[in-house]
Amino acid sequence: MHLLGALFNSSIGKKLLMAVSGLVLFGFVTGHLVGNLQVFLPPDAINLYAHRLESLGIVLWLIRAFLLVCLIVHVWLAIKLTLENRAARPEAYAVQHVNRATLASRVMARTGFVVLAFIVFHLAHYTVRIGHPEWAEHTFRLSDGTMVRDVHTMIVQGFSHLGVSIFYILAVGILAYHLSHGIVSLVQTLGLKNERWTRGLERFAVAYCWLYFLLNASMPLAVLGGFVKQHA
Ligand code: HEM
Repeated sequence: MHLLGALFNSSIGKKLLMAVSGLVLFGFVTGHLVGNLQVFLPPDAINLYAHRLESLGIVLWLIRAFLLVCLIVHVWLAIKLTLENRAARPEAYAVQHVNRATLASRVMARTGFVVLAFIVFHLAHYTVRIGHPEWAEHTFRLSDGTMVRDVHTMIVQGFSHLGVSIFYILAVGILAYHLSHGIVSLVQTLGLKNERWTRGLERFAVAYCWLYFLLNASMPLAVLGGFVKQHA
């Protein structure tokens, strides 16, 4: 408890918690993307994957709880650090600082806020299924005869709506931009960044974020373009 208190109250502790929680969330969004890309395979693949995840039962709930704690810590400390920095920074320094910092680093709070709003929308859309109670009823028969939830149909129907797809593409673009600075920043905070490979790390972050954005955007685009269709 004493250690937690020290972490939350010291500046370096807060940055460390931001970096660690950010790393966990980064791991989640990457894993989630890899899982979702199975929408390009026959529907059995993603439906079996979703079924296996659900079959984890209590373990899945523990993972969800852990992710939620990481998200709360990350957002809460981001707000705290932003307010503290604003209060501590005299105007003249602020101008100088703006010149040196990258645009991605300066808009972290704003892009983070959009990502948070996207997560709320996304949970309402696909997890709580507000406006689409029928998605909870759609079932799919796996090759071994097991009846499972039809996540494939849910994704195809969800992205068939042009406005929803545009919103997803914009949101993942903003998330990718947030990550492009987040990756560099967390490596720096964890003390792993050194002068020799700073350039390489920055290039990796940009390449990773472009790939992350394009792969995420490919799903709504594939549905809208008719490449991924609802199965019979
Ligand atoms: C095109 C991109 C995406 C697709 C196709 C997608 C698809 C889905 C689907 C189908 C579910 C519900 C799974 C179920 O009902 O079993 C889900 C849940 C979720 N997604 Fe996404 N997602 C995408 C992007 C994202 C992004 C970028 C984030 C984070 C910023 C995210 C965060 C979540 C979370 C937190 C859940 C809840 C997980 C849970 O219930 O355990 N998703 N997603």
